[in-house]
Order: sequence, then C-alpha cells, then structure tokens
Amino acid sequence: MKIIEVKNYQEMSQRAAEYMIEKIKSTPNLTLGLATGGTPLGVYQHLIEDHKQNGTSYAEVTSFNLDEYIGLAKDNPNSYYSYMYENLFKHINISPERTHIPSGMNKDLQAECEEYENKIEQHLGIDLQILGIGSNGHIGFNEPGTSFQAKTHVVDLAQSTREANARFFNSLDEVPTQAITMGIQTIFKSKEILLLVSGKAKQNAMIQLLTGDVTESFPASILKQHPNATIIADEEAMLGVKDNSLFK
Ligand code: GLP
Repeated sequence: MKIIEVKNYQEMSQRAAEYMIEKIKSTPNLTLGLATGGTPLGVYQHLIEDHKQNGTSYAEVTSFNLDEYIGLAKDNPNSYYSYMYENLFKHINISPERTHIPSGMNKDLQAECEEYENKIEQHLGIDLQILGIGSNGHIGFNEPGTSFQAKTHVVDLAQSTREANARFFNSLDEVPTQAITMGIQTIFKSKEILLLVSGKAKQNAMIQLLTGDVTESFPASILKQHPNATIIADEEAMLGVKDNSLFK
C-alpha cells in the first residue's frame, strides 16, 4: 500500500482528480468505482472543472457506486443517486446508462444485490475504485465485523455511521438504518484502489490502518493486502500516526 501525504483537503482532491483524469485519458472506456460522503466532493469539483475547461470525455466511462441507503427513492436529496447526479453526473458527459448505483427501493433486496454484483462482473470488474474511510474503518458501508469474503449485500448501519452521516439530514431519525453496499471482496477485486483520507476526524482510523493488524474488525485493513492500493492522506489525517509511538 503506497501512501502519498499531501498538505490539505484541496491538495488531496487535486492529486486524486489529476490521477483519475490521466487514467480516463489513457483508457477512455475505464470502469470507475465511485464513492460518496464528504471526502470525494473536492475531487468531483476538479473533474467537473477539467471537463469544462479541457473537455476530458466520459462518454465511454462506466461507473459503479459503492453503496446506497435502503428506503430512499432516487429523487430523495439524501439518496446517493441524487448525490452523484448533483455533484458529478449532471456536469459531465457520462451516459446515464453507464452509471450504476444499487437501488435501495427494490422490494427484493437480495435480488438487487446479486444483480449488482453480476453487473460488475460482466464489466470484468472495476478498474479504479475511489474510497473514503469511516472513522470506524468502514469502506463502502462495510461495517466492522463484515467478512472479507462479502459480496454486494444489505447492511445494518452502525450507530456511529448514522451519527456521522446525520449532518446531511435534518435529524438523526431520518438517517436510514440499512444500506446496500458492495462487499469487501467486491471492492478488493478492483484492479486499483485510491483511498482518500482528510481531516482530524480520520486520525484514529489512520493510526489503526497503518499500525494495526489486517482484521475484519477494521474493514479498511484489507487494503494492506491489495496489490495496487494507494492512500492519499492530508497532514491533519496523518498527525496521529506521526505522534503514535509505534510509528517512530
Ligand atoms: C460514508 C460512505 C462511505 C464513505 C464514508 C466516509 O458513510 N458510505 O463510502 O467513504 O462514510 O464519509 P466521509 O467522506 O463523509 O467522511
């Protein structure tokens, strides 16, 4: 696992976006794995600016999002469908048929999970997966304790995850209690992974990730075994790692 330390959120976003743009230019039919949350917003901003200024084309790009809340319709402003549309898709020339986000409204959630996993396989997997990390080490919505073998599945969200995401809703009560997420196996099969980490809230997660064991109780730890995973972390996120005696 390679670590690139950058100064701040802006630099993290720029570095990640530049990397993605290069990949898209060299492989126009790239299959991207996309993340939501606060972390990738700056990256998406850069991609949009670049698309407007330099015309980088997404016409042949396919995307698969990591996850979606159960019970939120596409037009709910807090659905990840809305998030992706508002923060990226409507600003670039990606074709809607090539964007994929699991549906949290399917009556048969098991079938939805299987279909999503199959679709990823039909596309021969994800070329470049963008990830954020939860403060408890979750990736996608794979909470601590999830099997490393898990494929796309339904999860009960940890209370800490619901509390962390309540900032996007009117109240904690409105945050769904379940989600569909790509599994850890699904994510791990990506040919390349870019994990973005910024800010104080992620300091403990970084300590655990960089100094702890590979364990299902800290899902992101599996990335240490991935052949092509890179972390771009900012100074604030790395502060605890540097203070941590294990790392001196
Ligand atoms: C969310 C998402 C994850 C995201 C993580 C961190 O709940 N499901 O994909 O990476 O938690 O979120 P943030 O970037 O807002 O800190």
